[in-house]
Amino acid sequence: MDNEKILILDFGGQYDQLIARRVRECHVYCEVRPHDMPLSEIKAFAPAGIIFTGGPHSVYEPGAPDVDPGVFALGVPILGICYGCQLLAARLGGEVVPAQSDSAREYGRTDTEFDTGSPVFQGLPARSITWMSHGDYMQRVPDGFSVIARSAACPNAAIGDEKRRFYGVQFHPEVRHTEQGLTLLRNFLFAVCGAAGSWTMESFRAKAVEELRARIGSGRVLLALSGGVDSSVCAALLSEAVGAQLTCVFVDHGLLRKGEGDAVEAAFANRALNFVRVDAAARFLKKLSRVNRPEDKRKIIGREFIRVFEEESAALGSMDFLAQGTIYPDVIESGGGLGAGNAAVIKSHHNVGGLPSDVRFREIVEPLRLLFKDEVRALGRELGLPEALVNRQPFPGPGLAIRIIGAVTEEKLRALREADAIFREELEKAGCGAQADQYFAALTNLRSVGVMGDGRSYDRAVALRAVQTEDFMTADGVRLPYELLDRVAVRIVNEVPGVNRVLYDITSKPPATVEYE
Ligand code: XMP
Repeated sequence: MDNEKILILDFGGQYDQLIARRVRECHVYCEVRPHDMPLSEIKAFAPAGIIFTGGPHSVYEPGAPDVDPGVFALGVPILGICYGCQLLAARLGGEVVPAQSDSAREYGRTDTEFDTGSPVFQGLPARSITWMSHGDYMQRVPDGFSVIARSAACPNAAIGDEKRRFYGVQFHPEVRHTEQGLTLLRNFLFAVCGAAGSWTMESFRAKAVEELRARIGSGRVLLALSGGVDSSVCAALLSEAVGAQLTCVFVDHGLLRKGEGDAVEAAFANRALNFVRVDAAARFLKKLSRVNRPEDKRKIIGREFIRVFEEESAALGSMDFLAQGTIYPDVIESGGGLGAGNAAVIKSHHNVGGLPSDVRFREIVEPLRLLFKDEVRALGRELGLPEALVNRQPFPGPGLAIRIIGAVTEEKLRALREADAIFREELEKAGCGAQADQYFAALTNLRSVGVMGDGRSYDRAVALRAVQTEDFMTADGVRLPYELLDRVAVRIVNEVPGVNRVLYDITSKPPATVEYE
């Protein structure tokens, strides 16, 4: 594994995370670091290859992001992508200029011709579609380089110096629109850098356990367990590493879905760790009674969570480490990528809206900070966590409280839990799980007249929501089969007391949001 680390130097491009994901998909370990990483650190990292990402700047601008010129003398292969390609050209003696409107400015799908004799293009068809997005143009290619790809608008779509093993591509191999992008990346990793492709979750697990043991020693570790994927996998990994030195505090705020609290507890029942489940449902309900406004609910829940957590950790005595399930996208997005030791910021807990600032501990451990979400899931499987937990949909920290419009009561929670369980069960039984990234029921504050048997009812309306999304920033309602919706509506009205109407929410986000509050 140590022989095949790829270093991705970040120039601020919008696809940087994608590059890292594609490299990891090839079972090659990589890390994204800032472009100005000092040469001494680059040497210590000992990369088998370096990738320069794209970025929004132009290399000829004053103050444009740069690299330490020493990287060109390390004897390590380099692949420059878009801005990275132009930087490579500009720093090694070529010339980059703004493209004229009628020449080499290109955006979108572009028919591109490859020199398949070059190791990076071996096995590719002679031409295929690439994804371009650049307004600059390499007017002069540096000495030692030859042009290895062309498009109609851009005669220098890729350059290569076979001797130094430096390559640059104007297009983005990491995006799916570039038809042969993954083959190109594989060629760079395997044919050029000589990587073995042996990085797997099995090897990550072994190394992480070893490192956690060395770092934690005989110290005590505290983890706030929400039952979400990240904190659960973090708990499983730490329990393997340090066993009973780990204490997980699971605050059950009574706003979880049907059977969820027990499922979380069961998943950790047979592991070497101290598991504290705090049944705080009554406390939360009391605080929430008569609270109607969404933001008030969220704040009350966040604050109460902190209080419960504080009380529990005070009772446990001093802890050496606080563990968090931070994952790689959080690290990259916050401009981090600087590795461990940067523990100053305690990120608000993604699931429960903030951890206490005065819980005493010496250091923070974040064993998942270099993994992407799908890798966290794979690690969870590797560690033997149940599929239902590993594949869990996002579930908001304030739980069902923000899926009940208006004041939260025990009776409404009971109704919503049942309706939600029926919807999820039927949807999964109908094989529609893959179409929807998140699906749930919400309880509206609408009461309406119905007729059941011979009697009149005046009961609540449940709304069903199923959305398809890539990133939860935008989402579309899923076109679920009518038969399924019909079955769910019949079951809910028959089985859930207090509900006499079922609505299906087809609104997209925007203008709606996924959750109701
Ligand atoms: P919205 O409602 O903003 O939801 O469209 C987008 C995604 O975020 C989840 N969500 C939350 N997750 N704490 C969380 O951990 C929260 O307070 C929270 N609010 C919304 C929501 O479930 C959806 O996946």
